[in-house]
Amino acid sequence: MPSGFARWGIPGRGPSAATGLGVNSRAEPIRLAVLASGRGSNLQAIIDAIEGGRLDARLAVAVSDRADAQALERARKHGTKAVFVDPKAYPGREAYDRAVLAVLEEHRVELVCLAGFMRILTAALVRAFAGRIMNIHPALLPAFPGLHAQRQALEHGVKVAGATVHFVDEGVDTGPIILQAAVPVSDDDTEEALSARILAEEHKIYVQAIRLFAEGRLSIVGRRVVIREGP
Ligand code: GRF
Repeated sequence: MPSGFARWGIPGRGPSAATGLGVNSRAEPIRLAVLASGRGSNLQAIIDAIEGGRLDARLAVAVSDRADAQALERARKHGTKAVFVDPKAYPGREAYDRAVLAVLEEHRVELVCLAGFMRILTAALVRAFAGRIMNIHPALLPAFPGLHAQRQALEHGVKVAGATVHFVDEGVDTGPIILQAAVPVSDDDTEEALSARILAEEHKIYVQAIRLFAEGRLSIVGRRVVIREGP
């Protein structure tokens, strides 16, 4: 885990702010970026929470590696800048990540939320935003990392499945776990039915995790994410 992980980089938002400065003392809502490759239902859940006054945040930019991602369309509808960063325009993964980083910096992003972003981030991005990138994964990590997590869970025969929000490190679905939600698996479950059940939980815990971050209530101790009690 990068050493920078132990502390947060946003003055007034992290554990260094545990002395009283929280997001409520800031004039501006936290600036988010969502990176997504497809459907964008988690992005939509975040937008809905912001518009519904349940999340004090601003979606500064949405970024995709797919020009036709529904996520970009959803962002535009919300009046958010939506940027397609074309993987074919860059010689490799690091160069690509540096281009994404430039977009994030241009929009003064404070927290990056991966939501179905089908690329593994390189150190160029992870280190620049150490402790400030979250991901949502449709399994109870560390079980079933990687692709088709719901199918993996069904094939393994688990009785309980779920979703995880975690901080992103340089591995695949390996970073410190922030929140998890469990759902039951029935004997006659299909991948579609289980995925839908998990997705409903994803939408709740992702918003909740962002809110906790925005309120400066998360800190990483070793591999653990410690959640400070709210006011
Ligand atoms: C979700 O199941 C998420 O957990 C996974 O990719 C899917 C993205 O769905 N990482 P959506 O694009 O947010 O609808």
